[in-house]
Amino acid sequence: MTILHIDSSITGDQSASRAISRSVVDQLRSGGDAVVSRDLVSEPLPHLTLDAFADSTVLDEFLAADTVVIGAPMYNFTLPTQLKAWLDRILVAGKTFRYTESGPEGLVGGKRVVIALARGGFYGAGSPAASLEHLETYLRGVFNFIGIEPEFVAADGLAIGPEQRESSVREALGQTVRLAA
Ligand SMILES: Cc1cc2nc3c(=O)[nH]c(=O)nc-3n(C[C@H](O)[C@H](O)[C@H](O)COP(=O)(O)O)c2cc1C
Repeated sequence: MTILHIDSSITGDQSASRAISRSVVDQLRSGGDAVVSRDLVSEPLPHLTLDAFADSTVLDEFLAADTVVIGAPMYNFTLPTQLKAWLDRILVAGKTFRYTESGPEGLVGGKRVVIALARGGFYGAGSPAASLEHLETYLRGVFNFIGIEPEFVAADGLAIGPEQRESSVREALGQTVRLAA
């Protein structure tokens, strides 16, 4: 099995999403698995251009993976632009989705995608900030569009204070253990 591990936090060793995505990979990998890592901050992809479609390296790497683990911090209510640049290489008509007479059809079945979310606030249904949640909702929509139901592990309220941060990250790391079951 091949695991593709993507990270997109700018906060390095302090990053919660990196710690959680690393834990997800550690839980899911077993002896003979290959892990391919792509750090979108240390090696950023440029903004999408038409010319970029000629290079399918990023898409091929995604298609070759059985499992994809993504660290996704919330910045300004949505995903980092580094991660958007990666998604811009993944959403390719005729490769990962196609338009049919009955509507769009996802072409990437049979792949497991686990996303480690880290958010400074709380965005649960009914909360005052719920309408500003454009990270989990966006990523779910994008992966559904190409035929994948992603799984999420979330650490929330990380900007509230050190105690909340510590307990949220601990709880999320605990959730990663259950992913292997
Ligand atoms: C540039 C920047 C923008 C942020 N914007 C938001 C935001 O809009 N909403 C929110 O809840 N938290 C926001 N945060 C807080 C982060 O989501 C939180 O610090 C989280 O831990 C980031 O993930 P990381 O630890 O993996 O970097 C922001 C943090 C940074 C650095």
